[in-house]
Amino acid sequence: MDAADMGKDLEKVLISEDELQAKIKELAAQIDADYSGKDLLLVGVLKGAVMVVADLARALHLAVETDWMAVSSYGAGTKSSGVVRILKDLDTDITNRHVLIVEDIIDSGLTLSWLLDNLKSRNPASLEICAALRKPDAIKVPIEVKYVGFDIPNEFVIGYGLDYAERYRNLPFIGTLAPHVYGGS
Ligand code: XMP
Ligand code: MG
Repeated sequence: MDAADMGKDLEKVLISEDELQAKIKELAAQIDADYSGKDLLLVGVLKGAVMVVADLARALHLAVETDWMAVSSYGAGTKSSGVVRILKDLDTDITNRHVLIVEDIIDSGLTLSWLLDNLKSRNPASLEICAALRKPDAIKVPIEVKYVGFDIPNEFVIGYGLDYAERYRNLPFIGTLAPHVYGGS
């Protein structure tokens, strides 16, 4: 799927495919250097991080393992409440492992803050975060993120794993939706 397939549903492209791919390579080079000589486990947060993990893992020279978690935030509407439920837990025992959580986007930070506490309690050797996107103006809990792709404005974005009602995850870029898609005029 590409911009042309979206017709009038696309408002604008925020980050192009080329920009995304260049940034992933930059992040991969940093991660390669930082974890040199270590066993690294990438933990992707489903479903949004699928594209980031797929591209990042292939850009790395390190032979990493990958595992997945699915979590859901309780709460009204689209806002995260910070009360999180595990829908799918890791298959891997992370005790004494070097773990890098890979996220699509950090919005309020509530989900990730809960996930960090949860994974920390399993005593990994190290625990860091890599997020493709971050919305600095939306943050509610300060979180130390070691690897960040792009800081973006506080707008709802789609593409590169991010969805609106489960659609548009398969766009290769990050974009915003035209207002009429949200059910308006
Ligand atoms: P919090 O607020 O806990 O939530 O940091 C992070 C999760 O909320 C989703 N999210 C988005 N999904 N476009 C999306 O498609 C967005 O602009 C957006 N902002 C937050 C996402 O699943 C993220 O992991
Ligand atoms: Mg997510």
